[in-house]
Amino acid sequence: MAASEHFSPLTARKSGPLKGRVAAPGDKSVSHRALILGALTVGETAVSGLLEAEDVLNTAGAMRSLGADVVRDGPGTWRIHGVGVGGFSEPSDVLDFGNSGTGVRLTMGAMATTPITAIFTGDASLKRRPMRRVLDPLALFGAVAETREGGLLPLTLFGARQPLPIQHRLQVASAQVKSALILAALNVPGRSTIIERAATRDHTERMLKAFGAQISAESIEDGATAISITGEVELVPTRIDVPSDPSSAAFPLVAALIVPGSEILLENVMLNPRRIGLIETLREMGADIQIRNRRDNGGDAVGDLAVRHSALKGVDVPAMRAPTMIDEYPVLAVAAAFAEGRTTMRGLEELRVKESDRLAAVAAGLKANGVRFSETEDGLIVEGAGAEGVPGGGQVATHMDHRIAMSFLMMGLAARSAVIVDDGSMIATSFPNFQTLMGALGANIEAVRAK
Ligand code: S3P
Repeated sequence: MAASEHFSPLTARKSGPLKGRVAAPGDKSVSHRALILGALTVGETAVSGLLEAEDVLNTAGAMRSLGADVVRDGPGTWRIHGVGVGGFSEPSDVLDFGNSGTGVRLTMGAMATTPITAIFTGDASLKRRPMRRVLDPLALFGAVAETREGGLLPLTLFGARQPLPIQHRLQVASAQVKSALILAALNVPGRSTIIERAATRDHTERMLKAFGAQISAESIEDGATAISITGEVELVPTRIDVPSDPSSAAFPLVAALIVPGSEILLENVMLNPRRIGLIETLREMGADIQIRNRRDNGGDAVGDLAVRHSALKGVDVPAMRAPTMIDEYPVLAVAAAFAEGRTTMRGLEELRVKESDRLAAVAAGLKANGVRFSETEDGLIVEGAGAEGVPGGGQVATHMDHRIAMSFLMMGLAARSAVIVDDGSMIATSFPNFQTLMGALGANIEAVRAK
């Protein structure tokens, strides 16, 4: 049995055309960073559109425990009075990040060069996820960690007393690791350089610029990027307007593509070039997705997505696209199941260390619903059912993973028979109004009633 204490199974049934105009909730990556950067800034950081989901609320709690004043004025509207770079105080209790890898890893980075000690933990899923990928490079600054066997949470992090600047080449394509190191470098005298080979999401870099940090990114050999940060620079407060999360918008987006007759508009979606791999891939598959009203929002592109039901065809998804659609593979696999022909996805080794082993969880879900596929160590090949239709009728184990739950519910909206997911409670970690929003579009998703 999975570790979730209260299972809330949900079922999704074949639905009529999805219609309407909705806005998915605020971007999770930007919301975490808004709280953390606000906490590292003296003065008031004002945030609108903050994602009020469990993952982000846990980060808000952690920032309070580290000394920041974090106030909610109304739905999505928050103010943070921070303590300044290097100003965190020692938390009097364990910091619990629930399900969130981003929250825990970025916060570890933000405190690792401050001379305090903090204890980090999370839920059963987070306690299985690797932390050494962050702790090893943080040790170069002088931080020391004591972990459970295998580098797992709970762990204690002793911040460096006299941190030294680092030069480090990232060993994994991970924006979380990169961001943790950038945040750590803020409180270090001199210049630290972090080199990334795969271009992962750059919200930390962009937002830090807006906060007045000395940070620059430069292309170097082999297509790699060197990010340099000069530490001990004061951050200046700013306003942050959080756009809709493309990783959440992905669910109604794919639903509209696979449910015949659908036509929806998704408002104010973040279109940062490092987050739009799914849109690119779906368009290659023949999806009718139009970007309307493209505009700038604090240095990042946003736009409205007009999406219509489309006949999809299988494609080969290049491995190098993985960082720009890393969280979207489960829902892409669902779209691929409805396509005509084969979709090949590779370079997915990072999916094995997400909220669940997402490759294994997707494979099991496809199997349960009669979709033909093959799974490799770092890839997935889905044989689309095309005109034949996806049988559905399966029960999907979600393994405490919100994106597995939402992806397979999307499958149920267009499959021949209903799809059940064993637990929808984790959806609240990223998309608290998921059922209401999908219901407003006409999706047939409901709780499975106890017999
Ligand atoms: C995130 C980075 C990604 C992504 C996660 C959010 C972030 O993780 O999967 O949902 O906000 O930096 P990795 O950087 O570990 O790939």
